[in-house]
Amino acid sequence: MSGIEGKVVAVTGAGSGIGEATALLLAERGAKVVLGARRTERLEALAARIERAGGHAAWIRTDVTRRADLSGLVGLARERYGRLDVLVSNAGVGLISPLDELRVEDWEEMIDVNLKGVLYGIAAALPVFREQGSGHFVNTVSTAGLRVVPLQSVYAGTKNAVRTISEGLRQEAGDGLRVTVVSPGAVRTDFTDRMDPQARARIDRMMETALSPDAVARAIAFAVEQPDGVDVGDIVVRPTAQA
Ligand SMILES: NC(=O)c1ccc[n+]([C@@H]2O[C@H](COP(=O)([O-])OP(=O)(O)OC[C@H]3O[C@@H](n4cnc5c(N)ncnc54)[C@H](OP(=O)(O)O)[C@@H]3O)[C@@H](O)[C@H]2O)c1
Repeated sequence: MSGIEGKVVAVTGAGSGIGEATALLLAERGAKVVLGARRTERLEALAARIERAGGHAAWIRTDVTRRADLSGLVGLARERYGRLDVLVSNAGVGLISPLDELRVEDWEEMIDVNLKGVLYGIAAALPVFREQGSGHFVNTVSTAGLRVVPLQSVYAGTKNAVRTISEGLRQEAGDGLRVTVVSPGAVRTDFTDRMDPQARARIDRMMETALSPDAVARAIAFAVEQPDGVDVGDIVVRPTAQA
């Protein structure tokens, strides 16, 4: 199967920002999308919007820190649409702060969501992809891992852990499975809402030239639409003005 039309694509963190833009774009191009996040009212509204536009969408409450929820997301794709072609592991939190502040709970949340959440997605989807003989993992990482700056070390660490695991997965995957990591630079989303004021002040300056989430969605669509034998491994999408 190549192109986007007819593919079954599950997206985590689908209720806002990059996940929402990705679900909308892929559904517009004919994918059947399966939406996961914790805020179900957002998922319900997004699914209704996609269906009204003539697309196909299902949703299920998914907390990526719970392994069973990822099984539920993958299970819904199979139950509703018979298969899963792409898992976009996009849910993420950026609770950035100076290490001296010892915000250990924030570190743990970033590890749980950004790293373990992706691993739970792999655990849920890999056996299904093996059974099908095909499948595509798309993992949202970050330019924070490519250019490490103060306040972002734990966040960048989680993203680079996913980058490393994705490359290992790609090498183990064989010729049926594809693995893509997408590294967005600054993107205008709700991502900074939970940051502390000091961190937010720094990030807000970057956000002045931030991309629309659609730019990242188009990059993901590019990877998904390639023919089966073409694995787009690594995409960096940042604002032209970003250092
Ligand atoms: N914005 C940027 O500048 C930027 C740059 C580089 C990379 N990224 C990455 O892009 C991805 C998407 O972020 P965004 O910018 O689109 O921000 P966003 O609008 O805040 O989206 C993040 C999504 O993750 C979901 N989420 C958080 N914790 C979750 C959990 N435990 N289980 C399931 N879903 C969870 C949230 O939904 P619920 O709260 O409803 O669960 C939310 O929809 C993240 O991985 C982020 O690290 C963003």
